[in-house]
Amino acid sequence: MLITGHTQIFGIIADPVVQVRTPELINAYFAEHGIDAVMVPLHVPAESLAQAMDGLRTLRNLSGLVVTVPHKKAAAAMCARLGPTASVVGAANMLRRQHDGSWVGDMFDGEGFVAGLRGQGYDPAGQRILMVGAGGAAGAMAFALAQSGVAYLGIANRTRARAAEMAQRVRQVLPHAAVEDVDNDPAGYDMVVNATSLGMRADDPLPLDANRLDASTLVVEIITKPPMTALLQAAQQRGCPIHEGRHMLQAQIALMARFLLDGPDAIETVRS
Ligand SMILES: NC(=O)c1ccc[n+]([C@@H]2O[C@H](COP(=O)([O-])OP(=O)(O)OC[C@H]3O[C@@H](n4cnc5c(N)ncnc54)[C@H](OP(=O)(O)O)[C@@H]3O)[C@@H](O)[C@H]2O)c1
Repeated sequence: MLITGHTQIFGIIADPVVQVRTPELINAYFAEHGIDAVMVPLHVPAESLAQAMDGLRTLRNLSGLVVTVPHKKAAAAMCARLGPTASVVGAANMLRRQHDGSWVGDMFDGEGFVAGLRGQGYDPAGQRILMVGAGGAAGAMAFALAQSGVAYLGIANRTRARAAEMAQRVRQVLPHAAVEDVDNDPAGYDMVVNATSLGMRADDPLPLDANRLDASTLVVEIITKPPMTALLQAAQQRGCPIHEGRHMLQAQIALMARFLLDGPDAIETVRS
């Protein structure tokens, strides 16, 4: 990759940032498609997000950002305009800077998650699913799963009120969806998804009691680093099929590149 004065710069903002895998995948995508652009990781703590965003929008050759943990909700609130999914979900994982320096945002986690499952032969339609987590990624995933025709979606979260609020928002938009807040007991589901940030650190507790998993349950992770989290290892030991977090990310790369490269004022074309 040759970086010159013409190269378009994109950032990925996160805290922590060492676990991000998007730069290696999207930079490979740029190289493969002959696109003169580069993505760099930017370590932005939550307390400096507003300050960092104010500074970043003054950089004329930085025209977009990928947003990840823990900034997705706060970043959506800083956008002048939101695409259709981000406005329903209330969180954004992609931001593009407009001519006037304002940000436009959208959310691709849900589409990427469902596409990643389907790509491995797992169609969520008709399935009973437990999702643990009610943060930015989980919100998008809940809508995408409900839209994909699941039979039932239970949402569990440490802060249960967030799970209840999320289930209610999904039902408001999709009144026929069977979505409710539940506890994190994984017994009796076809698919169990970890959408919390637990599993990134070696000393994290498991997001649920793995001893309660049925051997037929597909256990799905969205964490990409490490690729085999403690939950996936415990699930494998119980004989469960597993699905790693990289599938969700890989499914999102082309969507991300398209959004970032679309240019200012192009949000309506994002999903055409
Ligand atoms: N594979 C991919 O493409 C992909 C895409 C997006 C995100 N991710 C990964 O998904 C994870 C979540 O991202 P996010 O943006 O949704 O984060 P987020 O908005 O900060 O949400 C974090 C979630 O984890 C829960 N949580 C955090 N610490 C916990 C603890 N000690 N005990 C129990 N629950 C805890 C939170 O519960 P509370 O509500 O109670 O705080 C919340 O539900 C991150 O690891 C991120 O890297 C992967």
